[in-house]
Amino acid sequence: MELTFKVNGRTEHLELEGHETLLDVLRDDLNLTGTKEGCREGECGACTVLVNGRAVDSCIYAAMAAHDADVETVEGLAKNGRLNSLQTAFAESGGVQCGFCTPGFLMMLTALLDRYPQPDQVQVRDALSGNICRCTGYAQIEEAVERYLEQGKIE
Ligand code: FES
Ligand code: FES
Repeated sequence: MELTFKVNGRTEHLELEGHETLLDVLRDDLNLTGTKEGCREGECGACTVLVNGRAVDSCIYAAMAAHDADVETVEGLAKNGRLNSLQTAFAESGGVQCGFCTPGFLMMLTALLDRYPQPDQVQVRDALSGNICRCTGYAQIEEAVERYLEQGKIE
């Protein structure tokens, strides 16, 4: 089966068997290894990417379902080699420890902030309820969002 879609603004054409997950296609076929594989069961959020602006767990998302879609991964956030404001806020707040969960948190928050540019704490916690981090205790991640909201979007 032929999959045509855009990934981080670039059009990709792939021949697939049809059963592949979006996660496997991104990591194995397109070498976009920023998207992480954690549970592979839709429980941890490490594999979160955007499909037409909506956050999905790419480990349980059929790649063929992304045909003709716009997909955004963590690799698409930095522009011209510069981290975007949200990524910078994560780094400055210590929201990144081992970093394994970070791409998923960033993509989930990107979807939230696109929809609600000034989310309150309840909205942030609700959005992140499906993302698991083993390292930070979540406090630094919430602090990163607060820092981002205070500093404003500067990219
Ligand atoms: Fe997809 Fe955990 S790897 S939700
Ligand atoms: Fe290590 Fe979140 S920073 S799992």
